[in-house]
Amino acid sequence: MKFYELPPEKRRALLASQGLELADLDSATLAKMDQLSENVVGRLSLPVGLVTNLVVNGQSYLVPMATEEPSVVAAANHGASIFTQNGGTKVTSERQGIYGQIVLQAADDFELADFEQSFPKLIEITNREFSSLVHHGGGVRQITVRCEHELVYLQVLVDPAQAMGANKVNSILEFMAEKLAIFPEIKTKLFAILSNYPSQISRVKVQLSVQSVGGKTVAQQIALLSQIGETDPMRGVTNNKGIMNGVDAVLQATGNDTRSVEAACGLWASRHGQYCSLSSWRLEDDMLHGELSLPLALGTVGGSINARSDVQENYQILGSSITSQQLAEVVVSIGLANNLAALLAIATTGIQAGHMKLQARNIVATLSANDTEKQQVLSLMKQDQNYTQAAAQKYLIEIRKAK
Ligand code: MEV
Repeated sequence: MKFYELPPEKRRALLASQGLELADLDSATLAKMDQLSENVVGRLSLPVGLVTNLVVNGQSYLVPMATEEPSVVAAANHGASIFTQNGGTKVTSERQGIYGQIVLQAADDFELADFEQSFPKLIEITNREFSSLVHHGGGVRQITVRCEHELVYLQVLVDPAQAMGANKVNSILEFMAEKLAIFPEIKTKLFAILSNYPSQISRVKVQLSVQSVGGKTVAQQIALLSQIGETDPMRGVTNNKGIMNGVDAVLQATGNDTRSVEAACGLWASRHGQYCSLSSWRLEDDMLHGELSLPLALGTVGGSINARSDVQENYQILGSSITSQQLAEVVVSIGLANNLAALLAIATTGIQAGHMKLQARNIVATLSANDTEKQQVLSLMKQDQNYTQAAAQKYLIEIRKAK
């Protein structure tokens, strides 16, 4: 039997026979994991932390974030609480759909105008074939076309309703490509696949009193840092990493595809011709104005979302009736909250003070020590404000000697 044909227990037994030490995992869990992925041998779990009060368009949310990085959850809470003191975030969204591409190779006698005339009928046939998507409020919305030499590029806009829609859009595109390939002037279908090109854009704005960020000087520093990120890609990319810290953690918690969002956001950051920061902060009339727009092709159903009980629990926290647009509006707000907290820290104490204090827990978790010893080490690290691995080891030795 091939490795992928074995049940997960047998795959693990094989690894164990080669000397790998795998922690116990019950067979019910393994069976669940096996339904979700391929060649499964284990499970990776992440802590879920909460943002306890994010107000978006007047609605208050509890936001689950799945990440191993405590400072990401702490930063999101810090930023969100400043937003809430100032009335919360205002978010607008454009959710016409996600893009798909069909590229065909045409013969010499190809006439674009004749070909284009077939599009309304093609949309109608496709929407009839995928009537369940139409029933959920989605469907093919638009086809645009351009030719480059003998290549015909079709861009298809599909509204995936409440799902992110990758599988559905790929099925739709393959169906459409089959129909188009029978045109006599079309030689071959080269490919038909969704594009992760930025779509489903959400834009968040906040207006913060300078007092709420620690005064005018701090607000000026934040605005200056933001300006630097807009012109210097070296800073811009790090600014954006801080935004994606928050974005990815909510995506993970809600079973969304972090890779597609990351790919689209990378391109979005270069949309003006040069890579730059995704957010902007300006000081005007004694108010700090923050803005961020992100392409967020997210879903609240579909993919593995419905099959994962851990993810479903997070939807209960967020509000089970949350729509994909509301989720995107929460995500972009969290991105801006993480960004504000990072800029605030950089503009004042520097990032390491808060970060290392929180990171101490991760360091302590790596010690070969019992729970009481770990607690004692953590207290000593906090007391001395010394958050290195070496310090943790030293405190552990001292604690054991003192016993
Ligand atoms: C660290 O994970 C993220 C930051 O570097 C973001 C930033 O510099 O804006 C703190």
